[in-house]
Amino acid sequence: MKRRLLIVDDDREATRLLANQLAGSQLIEICGEAATVDEAWAKLQQSRPDLVLLGGVKETERGVLCQQFRLAFPHLSFIAACSANELVWEPFFRNLGIWVIAKPVQSGQVEALAMMAQSPGLDARIPAQPPQHFPKEQQGGMIDPQDQFAEPSPAFNGQTKAGIKHLITVYGPKGGVGKTFISRELAIFFSTQKKEGRPLKVLAVDFNLDLGTFATTLNLPRTPNLFTWVQDLDSQLHAFAQKRGLDPYAVRQKEWQELASVLPLSPQQIEKYVVEHTESGLGVLTSPRDIRQSFEIRDYHLYLILETLKQSSYDVILIDTAPDTTDATIQALFFAEHVVMVGTPVVDSIENIQRLLKLLREAEYPEERIQVCMNRLQRKEMFTLEEIRAYFQLHPSKRIFSIPDDGEVKKSINTGVPVMMQAGRSAAREAIVTLGKALFPVDEETKKPAIKGKQSEKPSLLRWLWG
Ligand SMILES: Nc1ncnc2c1ncn2[C@@H]1O[C@H](COP(=O)(O)OP(=O)(O)OP(=O)(O)O)[C@@H](O)[C@H]1O
Ligand SMILES: [Mg+2]
Repeated sequence: MKRRLLIVDDDREATRLLANQLAGSQLIEICGEAATVDEAWAKLQQSRPDLVLLGGVKETERGVLCQQFRLAFPHLSFIAACSANELVWEPFFRNLGIWVIAKPVQSGQVEALAMMAQSPGLDARIPAQPPQHFPKEQQGGMIDPQDQFAEPSPAFNGQTKAGIKHLITVYGPKGGVGKTFISRELAIFFSTQKKEGRPLKVLAVDFNLDLGTFATTLNLPRTPNLFTWVQDLDSQLHAFAQKRGLDPYAVRQKEWQELASVLPLSPQQIEKYVVEHTESGLGVLTSPRDIRQSFEIRDYHLYLILETLKQSSYDVILIDTAPDTTDATIQALFFAEHVVMVGTPVVDSIENIQRLLKLLREAEYPEERIQVCMNRLQRKEMFTLEEIRAYFQLHPSKRIFSIPDDGEVKKSINTGVPVMMQAGRSAAREAIVTLGKALFPVDEETKKPAIKGKQSEKPSLLRWLWG
């Protein structure tokens, strides 16, 4: 049976060209064309399509449109046709469960996607799975949103599954602004806290896959690490493929993704891959030892790791990221309940945060999840926090967190002793505590950490200044 396609595009010429190309198709029947949102709604009701191709409608965003359509017609599959410069939205469309293809649209691409949506390859052999967020796999101009997910990921749409943990991603679109420092301090802070009388179980994850240094900043060994987990996942996927009568050496990348989406997760196994920071009790999932190992980590590995972490027994999970927009980082942003967006009060860092905020806003990323944190503030800065807030167009109720520039930080990184565990004065510590409490309220009474260094009762002038 032919799949019924509705084309929504205000470029009537592009619609006509595609309609001509698909005129003789054995697989697709065009059941409607719409150039406005109102027309699209009318056609959805009248012609009951299976598939909607979203070209572009000036009056709205495609992500919003897709969500609205889906609410009324949950069975629909969506394809976004993007021009070369719109392809930057591809990860966000994928997170909304929208296929992405490049313009000019080729009828063969639409036919192939229609077929995949109808009979998704392995699905006949693999039991059905609830829709899921999934990373990209680009194949010759067609970008696969990981077919199974017809709904936005739970992480994206704010729904919470039972047992979901507090996942906080520390990100900043510029290198060296203090992401690792802040992740480490927040992780140590939470490890020394209690919630409802119970000590928190905390995990820090180094998602800076190639050049991560989180372990170094706590004087921890790098084995086991994330790659150890990836190797185990590969063994499990191989066995899983074999059980389904597939030859693991003939399985293609896309099929691995499909297999990964139904692989049973083992949250109880996580601790095998975690190194413990004994002084605080913090668990650390470190990045691989060797840069080359990071090249072998695929998007579906990261997806499996993040999904497993969400089902783990950790109360708080901190993810340190790289200053990039790779899939590892984008997935860490979309899986998180909170994002700490770190920058320094310098134009290049501010500019990049603004660009990232714009990107996330356009993708309808829930902005309430983002906490902006300006690090390394000095007493006199060229830009005030108010000016920075105005530049970012933050909601007036939104607070910008700040962490002062503190001479102790460098020493604490060099020695591997977090400022959170030092007894001496540190201007940065209170600022981190304030940020931590805003992210995840904890009990007033804390767990006793193994404090290092000398105790000091002397009030700190800097702490007072920055408090
Ligand atoms: N509040 C601070 N006060 C003083 N120095 C700081 C502060 N925060 C960070 N630094 C300094 O900045 C350096 C870089 O910090 P860090 O490694 O955390 O940045 P990053 O954003 O994780 O970098 P990358 O992008 O390379 O991962 C640290 O080694 C430390 O010396
Ligand atoms: Mg770092």
